[in-house]
Amino acid sequence: MSAFDDVAAQMPDPFRLLWKESVSSTNDALRVLAEQGMGEGLVLVAEEQTKGRGRRGADWFSPMGESLAVSVLLRPVDPKEFWCRLSLAAGLAVAETLERFVPMAEIKWPNDVLIDGKKIAGILVEAGKDFVIVGIGINVNTEEFPEGLLATSLKIERGGEEIAREEVLSSLVEHLARHSTKIGSDFADLLESVREHCFLRDKRVTLNCADKVCEGVVRGIGPAGELLLDRGGIVERVFQANEVRVVPG
Ligand code: BTN
Repeated sequence: MSAFDDVAAQMPDPFRLLWKESVSSTNDALRVLAEQGMGEGLVLVAEEQTKGRGRRGADWFSPMGESLAVSVLLRPVDPKEFWCRLSLAAGLAVAETLERFVPMAEIKWPNDVLIDGKKIAGILVEAGKDFVIVGIGINVNTEEFPEGLLATSLKIERGGEEIAREEVLSSLVEHLARHSTKIGSDFADLLESVREHCFLRDKRVTLNCADKVCEGVVRGIGPAGELLLDRGGIVERVFQANEVRVVPG
């Protein structure tokens, strides 16, 4: 029995819920099941992660019962080179989910979701031989964050109102079910909506690409989901980057 039982009963096929009180990381726990051959659509939700992971080896802060820590197992039929597009699909699913509760959420390419410049959700997409795990952490009812973190939660944005995590999960799965199928021939459609949520557009940023630090102004997102970076009049296409920092001022 968990607070998520009703959500579980209403998930679109083939999505189904596996709820755990505590795991090290939902991504790691789901990977074990994926490697054992578990079918697409398993949604692992944990009340607590003892070793929640962010990108670049960072820890992910998800206090017991306050946030949503969820990993979804997908077995895409599209070619492997398109699987990285699931980051944008997940970002859009998260942004649209949040917009049920707040006026606007933005996607910071490639896979953070922000409200008013503050991080509210993070996405960690990890691929195996024949599967992808989409890990999503959303700050739902979190009120305090470690020092130095520019973060927010739905509760903070809603002036202290407690938000039902089940509702957030239900909406998230619904959006992810739709968007995760759009990484192939429907990718242009997906991108259009991603662009409407683009936080970085027209911002000056620094990022690490191909082992060097690049600076430029973001002109948007290109047809393959890449960042278009204007470096002194020449627009470069950045397909992968470590941390993207907005240059203040
Ligand atoms: C980031 O912003 O660096 C990505 C954070 C991803 C956190 C989620 S919480 C659920 C899943 N399990 C993990 O260990 N990480 C992801």
